Amino acid sequence: KTLRIGMIAGDGIGRNVLPAAQRVLEAVPGIPKPTFVALDAGFEHFQKTGTALPKETVDTLKSECTAAMFGAVSSPSHKVAGYSSPIVALRKEMDLYANVRPVKSVEGHDPRMVDMTIVRENTECLYVKQETIEDTPQGRVARATRQISERASTRIGRMAFEIALAAAQVKQQRGAAASAYGWTGGPTVTIVHKSNVLSVTDGLFRESVRKVAAEYPNVEVNEQIVDSLVYRLFREPEKLSTLVCPNLYGDIVSDGAAALVGSLGLVPSVNVGDSFIMGEPVHGSAPDIADRVPSIANPIASIRSAALMLEFMGYVEPAAKIYDAVDSAIRAGHVTPDLGGKLSTDEVTDVVLKAL
Ligand code: NAI
Ligand code: MG
Repeated sequence: KTLRIGMIAGDGIGRNVLPAAQRVLEAVPGIPKPTFVALDAGFEHFQKTGTALPKETVDTLKSECTAAMFGAVSSPSHKVAGYSSPIVALRKEMDLYANVRPVKSVEGHDPRMVDMTIVRENTECLYVKQETIEDTPQGRVARATRQISERASTRIGRMAFEIALAAAQVKQQRGAAASAYGWTGGPTVTIVHKSNVLSVTDGLFRESVRKVAAEYPNVEVNEQIVDSLVYRLFREPEKLSTLVCPNLYGDIVSDGAAALVGSLGLVPSVNVGDSFIMGEPVHGSAPDIADRVPSIANPIASIRSAALMLEFMGYVEPAAKIYDAVDSAIRAGHVTPDLGGKLSTDEVTDVVLKAL
């Protein structure tokens, strides 16, 4: 079995941090020796060629690659004719219907022991981008369509239950360490919605996930209205575990949750479909610190995203080794300036490789 990984560095610090992921993937024991193929996408590529996501990138991913890593792309705040975000297009092209974002504290480092995973639906909700505007006698009125389907809600629900089961297993294996994270019981899925107000759309989401729950009698199911969930996120994040959310709530809740662990430069994600997996740090292209020599971009989000990619491909042990190596670097204070350290991107990566 071979591993061929598409590497889409993109713009800004995407180019600074993706090599760190590659070095770690080359070094981690327990996986087939990976090969890599560099692929284009992004705003700079668009400026050069008029295309943000070349067909060749998508074709190569589909025909050659087992999985991929995505760095970051810049999206201009003004509208640029012909440009639309390649990450949104890629998720659609590859049918990556789930965005999974674990937010975890490092034991012995962070004051609050957070260990939650947000499972965000990646294909619909308000992001179907069907917006209209019309002139009326009372002034302009804009409308957006919000699509929630039974099919998308059911498959994201199933993913959340599988993740909750896997997370509980990992915690059980780690025993004592797990209790430090405030984890006490078995696997739990919390359905995040607002069906008290949006009873049709969020109602369908809630009902579809609840139906999946019947297949998982060993997983505890509860639910929380999104606004009170945000309250709990700040008050008692230690008590949250696996959250399943429609697209927009998931976007907002997961960025908020990232603030609980110190830096955007730490938080990984993975885009998951039934036949493809793509790791992606949560942060953007960070033009304010991009392309410094030496680079000071924190490589940890990117390295953890590579581990997450492996985990979702079934390489659970190699992924755990990477997480542990990263945690030890953080605990020892071998970090970049965003975390108060003095090391460069490459130096942090060197420390992680040594721990590995
Ligand atoms: P950002 O995540 O790029 O940066 C926010 C702040 O966090 C900046 O001060 C940056 O220096 C810092 N930061 C982010 N990642 C870091 C890392 N690895 N190490 C150290 N510091 C880090 O978000 P911002 O500034 O809102 O957006 C910049 C560009 O990125 C925009 O063009 C935006 O559209 C794009 N973006 C792309 C995303 C993606 O590719 N998935 C996601 C979010 C934003
Ligand atoms: Mg976001």
